[in-house]
Amino acid sequence: MFEIKKICCIGAGYVGGPTCSVIAHMCPEIRVTVVDVNESRINAWNSPTLPIYEPGLKEVVESCRGKNLFFSTDIDDAIKEADLVFISVLSNPEFLAEGTAIKDLKNPDRVLIGGDETPEGQRAVQALCAVYEHWVPREKILTTNTWSSELSKLAANAFLAQRISSINSISALCEATGADVEEVATAIGMDQRIGNKFLKASVGFGGSCFQKDVLNLVYLCEALNLPEVARYWQQVIDMNDYQRRRFASRIIDSLFNTVTDKKIAILGFAFKKDTGDTRESSSIYISKYLMDEGAHLHIYDPKVPREQIVVDLSHPGVSEDDQVSRLVTISKDPYEACDGAHAVVICTEWDMFKELDYERIHKKMLKPAFIFDGRRVLDGLHNELQTIGFQIETIGKKVSSKRIPYAPSGEIPKFSLQDPPNKKPRV
Ligand SMILES: NC(=O)c1ccc[n+]([C@@H]2O[C@H](COP(=O)([O-])OP(=O)(O)OC[C@H]3O[C@@H](n4cnc5c(N)ncnc54)[C@H](O)[C@@H]3O)[C@@H](O)[C@H]2O)c1
Repeated sequence: MFEIKKICCIGAGYVGGPTCSVIAHMCPEIRVTVVDVNESRINAWNSPTLPIYEPGLKEVVESCRGKNLFFSTDIDDAIKEADLVFISVLSNPEFLAEGTAIKDLKNPDRVLIGGDETPEGQRAVQALCAVYEHWVPREKILTTNTWSSELSKLAANAFLAQRISSINSISALCEATGADVEEVATAIGMDQRIGNKFLKASVGFGGSCFQKDVLNLVYLCEALNLPEVARYWQQVIDMNDYQRRRFASRIIDSLFNTVTDKKIAILGFAFKKDTGDTRESSSIYISKYLMDEGAHLHIYDPKVPREQIVVDLSHPGVSEDDQVSRLVTISKDPYEACDGAHAVVICTEWDMFKELDYERIHKKMLKPAFIFDGRRVLDGLHNELQTIGFQIETIGKKVSSKRIPYAPSGEIPKFSLQDPPNKKPRV
């Protein structure tokens, strides 16, 4: 059988970098070269500070970089020398999830390889199978035709996104009825036919793949004259947009119907924890809606560089003119972000947000001090936080507490204002 000795991977991003690092780590006799047009990205891969954050990645890269793993901008040479080029005749979709990429790559649920049904196509499929067989049991390596493989990738992401939109739709109902979406998720998740994964209600999904892949499916369906199927999947995206707008509206409504010139701390900018990736992050959209209302945002994320936040928020679809320079400050730590704020908005489920000194934060905030938990990370702390004096609003649950009346001076006015002003929802 044709044996692969040299692999070239085009694209040293979130997929190419970790995937090829793990292949090199697992297959010491294969020389793996990852190439990219982006020179600074390649330089970072060759430096002690890798261009992406992923738990366990640094160790894997350092174990084989310079031995059988190389990062280069010399694309033509790497392609010429290679026995296999990722992005070639085969479809080999990667199912890694950011934040757990190394774990997923070392111990995948399945590896999917699609190829032409011609003898050459099948030879290529078998050669790639042999690479993965270095560490993946054969029964987990599926081979299909190219279309099945391509569609499986889209369908897998569409099903995952659909589960999030489904539980998010239930979260809206929970807030309206008094149910708790976490309790509902636990109850339905114990049904083995449903299962308990991907039932976490939140401020909406993000990341580079979900939206793109669902829209890709919608486009395919439209192009193939399947409008009912297209509409069905489009709704997954529409529900995600609705959830983001709904959360932003709730912040504005709770802050007495205006956030103009109010300081709001945004905790978390990555689209999920354990990654510095911000593509399609719900934080961007929440920030946009709040900026549109004139709020001053103080943003903190433990892994997203300052410049990235500014680039994301300066995108023409997100802000205009000098909105970002007028309204956005990037904070170096969460306490600085919350200092003097009217509200804290948690957009990413970083573990560190559960361990903050909320007493210290409360002391420095304007009163009444609000926390909007878009990720349900503070569920176990509600009593404690309310005792400190916080007003807590969270996804998919009414947190029962007396609404503290608005008092610009910090004093509690005598008249009662227990219910929020009557206002049509903004969504
Ligand atoms: N991020 C994920 O978890 C994930 C998982 C599975 C699949 N995918 C898919 O894999 C693809 C890549 O995703 P990513 O997250 O790694 O993106 P990325 O933007 O992080 O990386 C892509 C890299 O390719 C480089 N590049 C672009 N054109 C090039 C060219 N002509 N020659 C050489 N290099 C070039 C870019 O400079 C960039 O560094 C996307 O289609 C994505 O949807 C992503």
